[in-house]
Amino acid sequence: MSENLPEHVAENRRYWNSMAADWVAPGERGWAQEACWGTWAIPNSEVPLLADEMAGQRAIELGCGTGYVSAWMRRRGASVYAIDNSEAQLVTARRLCDAHGLDGIEWVHGNAEDVPQPDGSFDFAISEYGAAIWCEPTTWISEAHRLLRPGGDLVFLGHHPLAMVCSPIDGSLPVPIVWNGVTSIWADWTGATQPTGPAASSSTSRSRRGSGCSTRSASTSSITSRSGHPSPPPARTAR
Ligand SMILES: C[S@@+](CC[C@H](N)C(=O)[O-])C[C@H]1O[C@@H](n2cnc3c(N)ncnc32)[C@H](O)[C@@H]1O
Repeated sequence: MSENLPEHVAENRRYWNSMAADWVAPGERGWAQEACWGTWAIPNSEVPLLADEMAGQRAIELGCGTGYVSAWMRRRGASVYAIDNSEAQLVTARRLCDAHGLDGIEWVHGNAEDVPQPDGSFDFAISEYGAAIWCEPTTWISEAHRLLRPGGDLVFLGHHPLAMVCSPIDGSLPVPIVWNGVTSIWADWTGATQPTGPAASSSTSRSRRGSGCSTRSASTSSITSRSGHPSPPPARTAR
């Protein structure tokens, strides 16, 4: 990886190295549990972003952080390439990987906008609040497209655009909370997006791209604090 990083990538690296200690406990919970998604920890059985069976697939996680999504894919049989911009986050990921006795995950320190892998080398790509919310959209999505074989899938989670555009720029509303020592802004936008239920405002969409890759995204109503930190996914289960 070139160390001539774009300014936003260098700043994200500094930021995430400084915040990594706060993400150890959520990472430990993620590694210990089954796949689930978003603000309300919706089980993968209800929002199936990962196939139950991934044997034979080569998967990449773009902005893997503490690595639990990579663990979920590995446990489904995929071989996994997990890249993150923060050395400190990867220290946690590698430690938890050893603690859980998993092999078959390659942990890589690098920029998800510029991945040192050949074109078309992955069947599946995912970003759970990683590249999906921290990278330049046109750059990282183009890079994911390059990395996927024709027909491969890209799945990503981010914050619901409605929540973002309805939030004051200073992050003062609607509900600032401190979670794990981190100030985040939370709001329940469920009624705005899913009038029938409290379960989730996660939304999914799928589109077919020119070369045959497809893209799904799931966005939740959690809101990134204006200090640049995403809302942590807490729990309907113990996460
Ligand atoms: C909220 S965490 C999400 C990761 C994982 N799902 C987790 O919760 O541990 C965001 C991650 O994106 C990573 N990140 C930010 N910019 C990146 C980039 N340009 N390339 C790779 N990773 C990046 C950060 O280092 C951080 O670990």
